[in-house]
Amino acid sequence: MKFARFLMKNAALANIPKHIERFSKFSPSPLSMKQFLDFGSANGCEKTSFMFLRQELPVRLANIMREIDILPDPLLGTPSVQLVQSWYVHSLMEMIEFQDRNSDDQRALSDFTETLVTIRNRHNNVVPTMAQGVLEYKEAFGVDPVTNQNVQYFLDRFYMSRISIRMLINQHTLLFDGSTNPAHPKHIGSIDPFCDVVEVVNDAFENSKMLCDQYYLASPDLKIKQTNGKSPGLPIHIVYVPSHLYHMLFELFKNSMRATVESHEDSPSLPPIEVNVVLGKEDLTIKISDNGGGVPLRKIERLFSYMYSTAPKPMMDNSRNAPLAGFGYGLPISRLYARYFQGDLQLYSMEGYGTDAVIYLKALSTDSVERLPVFNKSAWKHYQASPEADDWCIPSREPKNLAR
Ligand SMILES: Nc1ncnc2c1ncn2[C@@H]1O[C@H](COP(=O)(O)OP(=O)(O)OP(=O)(O)O)[C@@H](O)[C@H]1O
Ligand SMILES: [Mg+2]
Repeated sequence: MKFARFLMKNAALANIPKHIERFSKFSPSPLSMKQFLDFGSANGCEKTSFMFLRQELPVRLANIMREIDILPDPLLGTPSVQLVQSWYVHSLMEMIEFQDRNSDDQRALSDFTETLVTIRNRHNNVVPTMAQGVLEYKEAFGVDPVTNQNVQYFLDRFYMSRISIRMLINQHTLLFDGSTNPAHPKHIGSIDPFCDVVEVVNDAFENSKMLCDQYYLASPDLKIKQTNGKSPGLPIHIVYVPSHLYHMLFELFKNSMRATVESHEDSPSLPPIEVNVVLGKEDLTIKISDNGGGVPLRKIERLFSYMYSTAPKPMMDNSRNAPLAGFGYGLPISRLYARYFQGDLQLYSMEGYGTDAVIYLKALSTDSVERLPVFNKSAWKHYQASPEADDWCIPSREPKNLAR
């Protein structure tokens, strides 16, 4: 019996390239916020969600697995990337086992939910493991602009794919595990149809302030301003995933606080962090302004790079103490969260003064549609880029004493 299972498993593994090929021929289907809500309301049912996900999850997995496959050998070959790849293979196989299960069978539905939880747990450490792989690669081969560009292109797509897969899994497991969320009965899975933006701002600020106080024994205050351009005078609400919004704000506050405290070591007081929340017809914009000394323009792009980070390596212990600065992934991952539902995150800095970080989200739920990578010929071409001569003249050296 055991041997039969072993043979079956090996046969399934041998077929993995075929499955990847087959499912990556489909493009992922981006869902709108409205579709996410419909799945969770009266006309959405577990069986429909099961039938959608057993096709869509393999499609999203297979599309990004094609990109992992064509990573440069020295990166693909690192033990960390090999490990991540094996998680993807494993999860794809588990999803494929549901292709011929009967959707009317209650057992199939409950096995499916259980498998989704297993997959979510298996992939918990994808970001630090991948980061470790990039670090190993960087230490062995250094960073050149072309490699940096390729890794950036890949990781932006890879992490975006991961965010989307986790969103689908979370929605299904939260909606169909048979319980309601006692803290937030009105939430549809992880979505708050009436997300109070200022409340999330305050929440993220308070938690970041706590960390900052612990670390520096001081922290700046918050000054918040809001303008509801749609319904003047009323609080600002949008349909959104509060945990995503919280993630972005928390990262930006940590950065602003660190910069503020470190640039005012000799001052008797700290300038406050100012937040401006504005709801327009199309955009919901949140601007976070600090007087933390700013960053020169030359370095701004690097702050979003996975290969350059200014922070020392974080301690990889299992304590739950979140550091104020870790991998240097705060900004790039936050930007992905903003872009996931068609928003963006940008930094405008004035070196010598401070930084404005701006989060743009879609004001309308009909505009909030998933932004997903698809593996096709144009994606493939990106990985073929090789070092070429620059078509702009290169100045003889970087500004004196400023090169990092
Ligand atoms: N508001 C700011 N003012 C000045 N420098 C900033 C600001 N925000 C970011 N930076 C710079 O950008 C770098 C990258 O920020 P990012 O949040 O991506 O990573 P990190 O803070 O170093 O680590 P973590 O992964 O914990 O966020 C920071 O280390 C810091 O040097
Ligand atoms: Mg940070």
